[in-house]
Parts: sequence; structure tokens; C-alpha cells
Amino acid sequence: MAGQGAHITIFSRKQKLLDEARSEIIAVRQDDSQKITAVAGDMGIAANAHSLLASQSQMPDILYCVAGGTPTECGFLVDLEPETFERCMVNNYYSSVYPAQAVLRRWVEDDANAEIPPCPRTRKIIFVNSSASLIPTPGYLAYSAAKAAQRALADTMRLEAMRYSGPQSTYVVQCIFAHNFITPTFLEEQKSKPSLTKRIEGTEAIGGGSAADISALESRFPHAHKIAPEIVAAVASNDFAVLDKRLEPQILWANMIGTSPRRGWGIVDCLFAFLMFLEAMDRQWPLCT
Ligand SMILES: NC(=O)c1ccc[n+]([C@@H]2O[C@H](COP(=O)([O-])OP(=O)(O)OC[C@H]3O[C@@H](n4cnc5c(N)ncnc54)[C@H](OP(=O)(O)O)[C@@H]3O)[C@@H](O)[C@H]2O)c1
Repeated sequence: MAGQGAHITIFSRKQKLLDEARSEIIAVRQDDSQKITAVAGDMGIAANAHSLLASQSQMPDILYCVAGGTPTECGFLVDLEPETFERCMVNNYYSSVYPAQAVLRRWVEDDANAEIPPCPRTRKIIFVNSSASLIPTPGYLAYSAAKAAQRALADTMRLEAMRYSGPQSTYVVQCIFAHNFITPTFLEEQKSKPSLTKRIEGTEAIGGGSAADISALESRFPHAHKIAPEIVAAVASNDFAVLDKRLEPQILWANMIGTSPRRGWGIVDCLFAFLMFLEAMDRQWPLCT
């Protein structure tokens, strides 16, 4: 996005990491006039999210709700401490709902006072969700529940946002169902992830962040910097569900579309859903005979 000329403001809790990220973004921006700002704050706290977003001088055109992950919240229900569920909900769900609410309120207020432009401007809120909300996986319980809540937020907000689309603005709400990719948080997760969870997702050989672990991971999963441009390009479709091109997320999404809109004309999602139906029949039939 910096390479395409956007002004960018990033929010998270740790100033040092924010400053490093800001320098990386500055290095790839198109033009020196682009403003790249880094603001520290816990976006899972309503007052913070509302005041930090309200205090920005420029109104955003796009809000990405990326905060989250499950660095220290993997484990089975019987083993997890109660505060784990709250932490996972704060970092994945509340850190989405409060910024989304703050920005949507500001946009709606702006539309009420704005002149009608020659053509409606597009205003987008994009949530970064996970395959973990599409398939129940033992060991991801706290995370799956928080991401399921975030998906419900995105689904419902998409419908509510239609109320505000008009001659001033078109509102678009999208949800990225990201599949495993390598980040520092993903490596951190490996340390506390149960071996059953690792076996299910294919990371059983990977314990932590050693060179051997990283190269084993790299043979199976892409790095964030490789997959992010693919995802950002897919966002341009305006489809509600945004996926990378790997087969696994396509199949998981097709099986769990529910009442969400299909992508494009719906043909690809319907075909994948039919394949999943055949696969399920194939597995169930021997159990019935
Ligand atoms: N990596 C994967 O395999 C994968 C797969 C599917 C989905 N995802 C999703 O992709 C997103 C990014 O994950 P990632 O793996 O790239 O991890 P990451 O690099 O650690 O990014 C997560 C970011 O969220 C910030 N954050 C967490 N809680 C926050 C809060 N309460 N307020 C403000 N910022 C907060 C963290 O910064 P601070 O700690 O400094 O606040 C960090 O910058 C997450 O939503 C994750 O669920 C990742």
C-alpha cells in the first residue's frame, strides 16, 4: 500500500516494534510526501481505540483490523487459565470491534455534513481473520472462538454498513481468512502448541525458532512478506471473503460459507463446496454400511 502511494498510520502496543515497522514502510513508499505514522496503544481497550482514532488529523479511507494472533493462548480447554480466553478475545475481537466502530462513526458523521462528490468514494473496513474460524481444531479453542466472534462482527457489519452507502460513500466490509504464514508470532505459538494441534496443521517437526525449524517451516508455509501482497491484491476484488491462492483456505472457506456472500459469481466457491460434500460422503459411507 505504501508502494501504491497511501498515507499509512499503524497502531499496536509496543513502540519499538512500531518504529521498526514504520522505517520498513518508509523504505518502500512511492513518494516522500506520504505520511507514515506509528501510534502506540492497546486497541482492545475501547477508550484507547476511540481516542487514538479520533485524534488522527486525517480521516482514513481504509481500516485494516490486523491485531491478534494466539502467541500464548494455544492449548486444550482443561489446561488453559481462564484469563487466556479474555486475552485472546481482547487481542482478536475487541481490537477489531472498537476501531471499526470508531472509524465507522467518523465516516457516517462526515457523510452527513459532506457535499455530494461526482462519484461516491469507497470506504473499507477489512478484518484479518483466520482458517481457525473455519475449522474446529483442538488446541486452538481460545483463538477459534475469538476469530469466530470477529467473523460474526464482519458478517453483520457488512449488512449494517449497507445502510450508510449512498451518493457520498460506498461502504465495503471484507474479511481475510488467512491461512498459516510465517511471522514472529507464529514461531512463538509453536512453543506452547500441543503436539496434536501441530500434527493436524502439519507443523509437528517444528519446535521453535532454530534455523532447522525455520527451514522446515519455509518448505511448507510462506513468509508474511510473500503472502501479504497476494492478499492485498485480492482485497481489490471487494468480495467479502478474501483468501490467498492456496488450496486449503479455498476448501475450508467453501465448507463454511453459511450466509456470507460467495466470491465473484459464486461458481468457484460452489464447486469447492460440492467437492467437500463428495469428500464427506466418501468418509461417511463406510461408517453407514
Ligand atoms: N501468522 C499466521 O499464520 C496467521 C494465520 C491466520 C491468521 N493470522 C492473523 O493475522 C494477524 C496478524 O498476525 P501475525 O501472525 O502477523 O502476528 P504479528 O506479526 O504478531 O501481528 C499481530 C499484531 O497485533 C498487535 N496486537 C496484538 N494485540 C493487540 C492489541 N490489543 N492492541 C494493539 N495491537 C495488538 C501486535 O503488536 P503488539 O504486541 O506490539 O501490540 C502485532 O503487531 C492476526 O490477526 C492473526 O490472527 C495469522
